[in-house]
Amino acid sequence: MVHVSAEYYPHARSGGLAEAVANLATWQSAMGVRSLALLPLYRSARRTAGPLAQVGDPLRVRIGDVTPKRAADSYTEMVQVVLPNDANPLGFILGGTVMHLIDIAGAIACHRHTRSLLVTAAVDGLQFLHPIKVGDLIILQARVTATFHTSLEVEVEVFSEGILSGDRKLTSRAYLTFVAIDQHGGKVPIPPLLLETDEERARARDAETRRQARLDAKRRFKPALSPEP
Ligand SMILES: CC(C)(COP(=O)(O)OP(=O)(O)OC[C@H]1O[C@@H](n2cnc3c(N)ncnc32)[C@H](O)[C@@H]1OP(=O)(O)O)[C@@H](O)C(=O)NCCC(=O)NCCS
Repeated sequence: MVHVSAEYYPHARSGGLAEAVANLATWQSAMGVRSLALLPLYRSARRTAGPLAQVGDPLRVRIGDVTPKRAADSYTEMVQVVLPNDANPLGFILGGTVMHLIDIAGAIACHRHTRSLLVTAAVDGLQFLHPIKVGDLIILQARVTATFHTSLEVEVEVFSEGILSGDRKLTSRAYLTFVAIDQHGGKVPIPPLLLETDEERARARDAETRRQARLDAKRRFKPALSPEP
């Protein structure tokens, strides 16, 4: 486990930050982490210190373990049986219940990868290809597809499995983005994902394309949320 902390002294606001960032830069080059990974930390340091910080107050900025990890290290499978309480009047699992389970499975994989607090930033369009009946198993497989600076994408595939027949069907596939945060809500850098196979490299390329589309969608969505002048 690698922990790095940097002290920030508000009496030399910019100097303190420069010192913190310099310490981190030393660590960064030792760990081979991209320089952009320092930006969220820098912002978090500024936000946490706030205007009320006193001379000499230490600000401890802590990064968890940012050793690169393989997708297999965080791969997560969840299995549960569909009970009548989870179902609509047709005896099929509710879409909302599936979405909840997708969020949980995706979050567990991302927690295993980052070992940090997380929030869900986005869930891409979700399709339900087949119903899952009461008495069937619902299986969720979550794998991290790509990491960025403070955010990461996870793919969650949902399958139904007949308890007697053993027949398995892919019913949904979802892509979720989580952002790693600290206790103050500041974003924190995450461990890079090791891409070891052609399949993993292709997944990460696709994830980059989806990320661009997501961020474009967010930009288009944001003005729509602002109140009229
Ligand atoms: C998600 C959230 C932290 C992003 O905050 P923000 O200030 O807009 O984020 P920033 O612009 O600083 O971006 C931080 C990272 O998140 C990514 N991100 C932000 N919004 C995103 C979105 N809608 N889709 C995909 N990625 C997104 C950015 O690309 C960036 O990634 P990077 O550091 O890996 O490059 C913030 O909007 C939030 O707290 N939302 C509510 C989350 C929530 O309540 N979820 C449900 C319960 S957990």
